[in-house]
Amino acid sequence: MVGILLRQVSKSYGGTCAVDDLDLEVEDGAFLALLGPSGCGKTTVLRLLAGLERPDGGTIALGERVVAGEGIFVEPEDRGLGMVFQSYALWPHMTVEGNVSFGLHGRGLDRSEIAARVAQALDLVGLSAKAGARPHQLSGGQRQRVALARSLAMRPRLILLDEPLANLDANLRASMAAEFRRIHAETRTTFVFVTHDQAEAMALATRVAVLNGGRLQQVGAPEDIWHRPASPAVARFVGNRRLLPVEVLGASASDPARRDVRLAEGVLSLPGPAPAGPGWLCLRPDGLALAEDGPRPPGEPLLGGTVRDGHFEGGHHLLTVDLARAGEAIAVQVRSPVPLPAGAVVRLRVVDGWLLPRDP
Ligand SMILES: Nc1ncnc2c1ncn2[C@@H]1O[C@H](COP(=O)(O)OP(=O)(O)OP(=O)(O)O)[C@@H](O)[C@H]1O
Ligand SMILES: [Mg+2]
Repeated sequence: MVGILLRQVSKSYGGTCAVDDLDLEVEDGAFLALLGPSGCGKTTVLRLLAGLERPDGGTIALGERVVAGEGIFVEPEDRGLGMVFQSYALWPHMTVEGNVSFGLHGRGLDRSEIAARVAQALDLVGLSAKAGARPHQLSGGQRQRVALARSLAMRPRLILLDEPLANLDANLRASMAAEFRRIHAETRTTFVFVTHDQAEAMALATRVAVLNGGRLQQVGAPEDIWHRPASPAVARFVGNRRLLPVEVLGASASDPARRDVRLAEGVLSLPGPAPAGPGWLCLRPDGLALAEDGPRPPGEPLLGGTVRDGHFEGGHHLLTVDLARAGEAIAVQVRSPVPLPAGAVVRLRVVDGWLLPRDP
């Protein structure tokens, strides 16, 4: 139940800049996902928030309180936050109840208060019936929930989670994701969780911050990040888009919110914040379709290419197609209901796309 403010926060390890001049504001009660590829600085941001690292520069505030900055550093235990690690870090010799109550002892709480908090936290994560079990008697998902209950019992204002679902199978991940959403809604605690899995970030978070190379690329609602990537790095990472260099002609006569773009001897009208001039056409697999033989809108541009490879993804085949464009080796991905052999010549319709300026 606390907002977060980072101003110009930097952190280097030796010569490696892990977090670079980061500005980020998270509102009270948000469920924020820190999303980005491996090594982009996600865990470092979490550790800076927790007080496990000191920033080289910049200011970090939790609510009204500056916890790191010029001459100020608040120790982790005084920040009033909970942290859930990927490894769960449960005590193997203690029961579920013992693990959840562990951090509450020595805090001046009386026995009945501790018992009430443990019961409430276990109820919240749906593990009341397992209070007497030991960690080795639990499934991975149950252990994950014990780790969460242990954090919740402390009644933190902020919970930090580092890839909390990474060790779970696909079905468990989905049900734990639903549990996290419910627990967040019930407690209204601010959650910050780290993931490199875009589907997980979209499914869980109310806001998503995309990091790349230690820098913040974009922060917004999941739909924003998905439909309106602000930079080539976000476009590539979110939605697995491939980027095609194109010439943007200017606003469309038919729809001023769209831009006309020249493509394969035709003109296409697409959305995106690209002014006239060199641009990127960002294409997701579901923004392309194999062109059927037969009648088509007159003047619709088609991209010609050759299938490089393909694999079954369940429901459809995902093909990688090398486009036939003079002087450029560019591959895009498209879904197909049937397998196509490598070397097959195909033509692709652009159903949907997003335009970005070439030099932002
Ligand atoms: N203790 C450390 N000493 C030296 N370099 C570090 C240390 N911790 C992180 N780094 C470097 O800082 C960069 C960011 O690391 P970080 O752990 O924050 O990435 P991440 O986004 O969490 O990656 P992953 O998804 O793989 O967990 C990386 O280049 C990493 O090698
Ligand atoms: Mg990490």
